Amino acid sequence: MITQEENERLTRCGPGTPAGEMLRRYWWPVAFSDDVKGVRPKKIKLLCEDFVLFRDGHGQLGMLEPLCAHRRTTLARGRVEKEGLRCCYHGWLWDAAGKCLETPAEDPSSRLKDTVSMKSYPVQEAAGLVFVYIGPAPAPLLPKFDLLVHSTGDRYVWGFTDHCNWLQCAEVMADATHLNWLHAGVYPMYAGKRPRVEYHERDYGIEYLYNMDDLPADKCSNVLFPTGNRFASARKELKGGSRQNMVIRTPVDDVTTDNFFISLHARADGKLVQHNAVPPDRACDTQWVPTEFDVYPAGDEEWWGVASIAQDRAALEGQGRIHDRSRENLGASDKGIALYRKILKESIEAVEQGRDPKGVIRDPAKNPVIDFGTRLHDIQRKLEIEA
Ligand code: FES
Ligand SMILES: [Fe+2]
Repeated sequence: MITQEENERLTRCGPGTPAGEMLRRYWWPVAFSDDVKGVRPKKIKLLCEDFVLFRDGHGQLGMLEPLCAHRRTTLARGRVEKEGLRCCYHGWLWDAAGKCLETPAEDPSSRLKDTVSMKSYPVQEAAGLVFVYIGPAPAPLLPKFDLLVHSTGDRYVWGFTDHCNWLQCAEVMADATHLNWLHAGVYPMYAGKRPRVEYHERDYGIEYLYNMDDLPADKCSNVLFPTGNRFASARKELKGGSRQNMVIRTPVDDVTTDNFFISLHARADGKLVQHNAVPPDRACDTQWVPTEFDVYPAGDEEWWGVASIAQDRAALEGQGRIHDRSRENLGASDKGIALYRKILKESIEAVEQGRDPKGVIRDPAKNPVIDFGTRLHDIQRKLEIEA
């Protein structure tokens, strides 16, 4: 049983909050690589804090605190130049590491620029996504999840926003039995059935095996703690094909969560082709699918009338902006939720005690490729990885 007080502890993600401090120990995707270019910087909000992200003329990415150290106007109005980001107010120039390169109104002999700096944050790219780290130094390693480092296939990188708290978006990943109901229309072979689900705690989070008596083999899905999910899908509309997926749900603030997806279809020619777009069956023109709270595209299935892309969002936003766990009634089949919450509580406590939470990797020798080999009944696709 979770009290309202505990629910606050588990859900709030701003600086200084228990869950927020734990979540600051991980790298987070905040943008598509291709979106960070040109003369305009990008405003970023992550874990209730504001930042500005840019790529200088040398291709170097930088993420800085949002307000210029001179007279504190927003750097989001600035201009990206070859050497860095120039503030719109009086033209001070900042490089990707937060060093001040110019204070143009000062006398050329002034040393003022050597006495000021901006806070900058570690940034790196993987699979067409920009990852940032805003926690205490030193930054840990970005785990080598297979879909971040695979080397062949058609790779679609895309996303959308859920208008609710990050934890309900995370918990749905450990909630295996919703597949048989919420997604009944797109997985007719599972519809309305009761699965046998085995949950296993792993170094990276949770693996679960999903068995149904009349299907030939099990389905496997993985929770990459705290908010990643790695799974295969073989939805009806894929017409017998399948794809491998990874999603990381980035907490923007207490009531907004950005879903960054990597979806991979196999290619016969062994090439890797990047698509900055939603996968073809998703029928959307923009890489970031527009969403609105409590508004969902219609589906033509006979169950809930919501298109498959929005079914999770409909259930998650339907729990409210911040789900009140003190009023739930969990059953024995909610084992995955119980295990996820155990790991969540342990991870928050670990950070409070000065230790790393679940899945944080610091030793390069202990950061091999994590190859999930995720399968869905008769599908087992081996990813090709050059690492
Ligand atoms: S406030 Fe940025 S240069 Fe003055
Ligand atoms: Fe789902």
